[in-house]
Amino acid sequence: MDVQKVIDQLGGRHALQSLLGVGPSAISNYITRGCFPRRVQSIIDTALQDTPHHNQLHNPNANSTSSTTLTPPRIIHPTHGKRIALIIGGGIAAYKALELTRRLQDHGFHITGIMTKSAQQFITPLSLSALSGEKVYTDLFSLTDEAEMGHIRLARETDLVLVVPATANLMARAANGIADDLASTILLATTAPVMMAPAMNPAMWSHPATQDNLARLQSRGVHIIGPDSGDTACGEDGEGRLTSPQDIVAHVRARLEPDRSSLALSGKHALVTSGPTIEPIDSVRFIANHSSGKQGHAIAAALASHGATVTLVNGPVTIDPPTGVKLVSVETAQEMHDACMAALPADIAVCAAAVADWRAQAPKNHKIKKQAADSMTLNLVKNPDILAALGTHEQRPTLLVGFAAETENLEANAQQKRIAKNCDWIIGNLVAVSSGTNTSDNLVFGHDKNTIMLVRDGTSEAWPKMRKTEIADKLVAAMIMTLNETVADKEPANV
Ligand code: C5P
Repeated sequence: MDVQKVIDQLGGRHALQSLLGVGPSAISNYITRGCFPRRVQSIIDTALQDTPHHNQLHNPNANSTSSTTLTPPRIIHPTHGKRIALIIGGGIAAYKALELTRRLQDHGFHITGIMTKSAQQFITPLSLSALSGEKVYTDLFSLTDEAEMGHIRLARETDLVLVVPATANLMARAANGIADDLASTILLATTAPVMMAPAMNPAMWSHPATQDNLARLQSRGVHIIGPDSGDTACGEDGEGRLTSPQDIVAHVRARLEPDRSSLALSGKHALVTSGPTIEPIDSVRFIANHSSGKQGHAIAAALASHGATVTLVNGPVTIDPPTGVKLVSVETAQEMHDACMAALPADIAVCAAAVADWRAQAPKNHKIKKQAADSMTLNLVKNPDILAALGTHEQRPTLLVGFAAETENLEANAQQKRIAKNCDWIIGNLVAVSSGTNTSDNLVFGHDKNTIMLVRDGTSEAWPKMRKTEIADKLVAAMIMTLNETVADKEPANV
């Protein structure tokens, strides 16, 4: 996408600034980077749809069907356009606000960061701004900030004010109506709902002064998230730990997302496999494939955010599961197969797991001794093919999607796989660029971005390189369209 062309198409820099609610520096930043941040992409896509020449701008091959580079379907996220003013207080847990920002963006929220002076002792406005892609506000009396976005606008033009971490000091000032810096002034001036996730030393948390402030804030409708119990940063055990970013996201979503029953995939069950499987050779060794689980988990998250009930069957991964999914953790292909069959019926199944094709015929329950010989033979037997089993199952999901990691002839191999496994779509990706078996050559495993080819019956679309979360969003948009078409096909025609 040509950023400058898009800006022109949307009426110029000022028009885009007001569309996105960002300052001039953000637009310059997009031009320099040659792309838009993911969280504003759906707003831009929507606006472009309403402009003439949209198709030519995005997709000069709009009429061709086979083997073209196509713009993936547009997605309107359920939280589309929802804005959060994220106030970061000065506590050691401030660094967790960075991860929280990412996770909130994954759900389509638009984040404006506001940092107290003490928060800047722990993290810098630059790191938050790099993550949010937005200017971060720190100063009540900054002429530039006020010219760009006055503190009253910051307080008002938001759907939620979220304070993370809420320190004892910030809670005390908010409870007593003190407005002596930008953060506390926003808390006094806002008419939006306020959520606070406190984090502090357990003694400070249980102090009657803090508890009085807490009661006052709650009585005024402030939604308090946590804190959790456990080890705190100061080495003391007790109540005062910041609730995990994942749980904070769940609270925010419950407050800001529309009624889930109105979402596009409400009432649908989606089954997703993700991560590798590991097949024991003995008590310490195993066979496995490379897989971080990032793509499968992102698809599960996107399906859930559109209202689907999601069963995520994952092999051993180091990433956190998305919020709101039913997680089934397994190790071997056989366990993954059994878990998938037990999860049926499903409307959608996406097999993103890198399942080991083979397992040791007779795994030992002790460590096999190293032999003197230079070689050894390991007898392998084939694992069940979960995707193929779903493809022939009497409860075959309406939309069955598989992956094909190929090192060559991507399109032909993917098309062949689609037919062989009786699935509807294959998402193909090339997994190596240069010769050799060095995994650092791979383009996909463990990376945050991916380049895919979506292979359907008779068509294949090469999508441009995108973040895996973005691919997930766009794939789910395409799934929603396909399911809607399937329903329309089944409906009797009006006569
Ligand atoms: O045959 P191949 O392993 O290349 O097929 C890849 C696709 O099949 C992926 O969607 C993968 O999750 C799925 N698969 C499976 N069970 C297996 C092997 C692959 O579900 N045993």
